[in-house]
Amino acid sequence: MRDVAIIGVSQTKFGELWDTSFRDMITEAGLKAIGDAGIEGADLEAMFVGNMSAGLFVEQEHIASLIADQAGLNPIPCTRVEAACASGGLALRSGIMAVASGYHDVVISAGVEKMTDVVDPTPVISTAADQEWEVQQGASFPSLYAMMARRHMHEYGTTREQLAMFSVINHKNGFLNPLAQFPMKITVDQVLNSSMVADPLRLLDCSPITDGAAAVILCPAEDARKYTDTPIYVKASAQASGTIGLHERRDITTIDATVHAARMAYKMAGLKPQDIDVAEVHDCFSINGLLAIEDLGFVEKGKAGPAVEDGITERDGKIPINPSGGLKSRGHPLGATGIAQTAEIVWQLRGEAGKRQINGLEIGMTHNIGGTGGTAAVHIFSN
Ligand code: COA
Repeated sequence: MRDVAIIGVSQTKFGELWDTSFRDMITEAGLKAIGDAGIEGADLEAMFVGNMSAGLFVEQEHIASLIADQAGLNPIPCTRVEAACASGGLALRSGIMAVASGYHDVVISAGVEKMTDVVDPTPVISTAADQEWEVQQGASFPSLYAMMARRHMHEYGTTREQLAMFSVINHKNGFLNPLAQFPMKITVDQVLNSSMVADPLRLLDCSPITDGAAAVILCPAEDARKYTDTPIYVKASAQASGTIGLHERRDITTIDATVHAARMAYKMAGLKPQDIDVAEVHDCFSINGLLAIEDLGFVEKGKAGPAVEDGITERDGKIPINPSGGLKSRGHPLGATGIAQTAEIVWQLRGEAGKRQINGLEIGMTHNIGGTGGTAAVHIFSN
């Protein structure tokens, strides 16, 4: 296997983008990443694009063909990758494997979702859960995560305020991110008084409905300095699966797919949780941010609530989490999220994250999950 490097990244503005179509967003992200890498479109040998549900959100399937055509990339192979909200993370992993194996040299991995054109996105998002056993019985994504939150509160004494703190810290970071959907500061009181979505989760515990795209350019590590002075190296790419339904889990306060993917990633990189300097984790709901820092090994099981309250996940804390603002503040265009997380870690490791820059970073991680944890992708990067 060859070592792989990232030589270019991009993200579009995230938000409710009325004047930008699906095809415009992904083309913008692709062109910006190509520009960032200082290459030509003609240098690309393959494209992988993460997308959860263009068929239901914008009534367009066969998006790999659409995108290659629109971007002027024909005839290179372009492949759609789908694993619900982890589609972006898996598109990245597909690109990494294509370069590592020697099959291709310069590859683009991207992600895109346009979610705001449907009247009710909740049933579309719910297709990532078990239709027969969960959704048809009345469950939705907020209600499934609400059950995980309730159980975590019951088992470990996690408080409503501690859940809220996760959102507050995300928004404090997202306030500094010009590409974020909701770049505003919020308080614990505002979270606790925002409208109820699925008890105990309120509006400000939830990631929003988002349009957006992001892209990264990969090449063999040995070639990276031909293109850039600041290559970012892929130290590990891991993926694991878990049960799609919550009712099949041994414990609904642990996402086993994350635990397995993290274990593989640490082994591959020869690193431990305490070696990670910064991480972008999948906080589609505040509870999932807490579960992530436990399942990735940053804090002991059940201790995420007090740890967040103590500020260890702040930008100047022991393990800075979601300097971008996370899914909560940056936004969560499902198929684009895993790639946007990667773009943020690359900017942080290059020292290009503007006002939200954390100094002295060497090792960064991304954690992207699909559904309520049926799929998890964990990547580790270094500068
Ligand atoms: N955070 C902060 N503000 C939000 C928000 C969020 N997550 N979602 C919406 N808002 C704001 C809107 O901008 C709007 O503000 P305005 O009145 O000033 O214009 C207001 O709240 C109401 O927005 P609306 O679009 O009517 O909200 P909604 O009630 O239809 O949807 C949720 C809110 C939380 C239900 C929806 O965002 C949601 O389903 N999120 C979860 C998405 C999800 O499951 N993703 C996959 C996870 S795996």
